Amino acid sequence: MSFEISFHNVRRIAESRKMLVAEALDGFDSDSDVVRLAHAEDLRALATRLLVSPSELLLGQDDLDDGIKVCRREQGFSRAQQRKGKLYYTYQHLATTSAAPELMALRVTVHCNDEEDVVLNAGHDSKELVYVTVGGIRMHWDTGSGVREVDLGQGDSVYLAPGIPHSFRSIEGESELLAFNYRLPA
Ligand SMILES: [Fe+2]
Repeated sequence: MSFEISFHNVRRIAESRKMLVAEALDGFDSDSDVVRLAHAEDLRALATRLLVSPSELLLGQDDLDDGIKVCRREQGFSRAQQRKGKLYYTYQHLATTSAAPELMALRVTVHCNDEEDVVLNAGHDSKELVYVTVGGIRMHWDTGSGVREVDLGQGDSVYLAPGIPHSFRSIEGESELLAFNYRLPA
């Protein structure tokens, strides 16, 4: 299945990513009106390069209402995660939009409160900023030569580089944090 998409749309998205349109379209067949993609894989590849969904690339529009997207308190997609068979975190997504696929913002309820239950994740390729909103958190992270820990109180924040295995456990009842995961174009 082949696709033709508007050169103007690609240029608009590329410029919003601080990319040159020529850079964005390097290797793709295009003229000043149309970008021709021979296969769905090409559509996906270009969408990945531009950090948008394939549908945004095709439709040329996002899901904003006059430039904003509201997500009410209990509207965001919510997911509970277990580790070692015990409830560990509940994630609730804050406003998500096709206009900012590089950003994933979460409210996280931290259920784990026992040192023995701590399980680090494998790390992820997004950058992460965490802000403690309720309670107190002990963060463990793997330095590559051992696991370190730091305690964070309400109002404290921490930045985590990509690829670092980490875990949050509550040291004051059930705690809560906000986690902003984001990937910027290289
Ligand atoms: Fe994380």
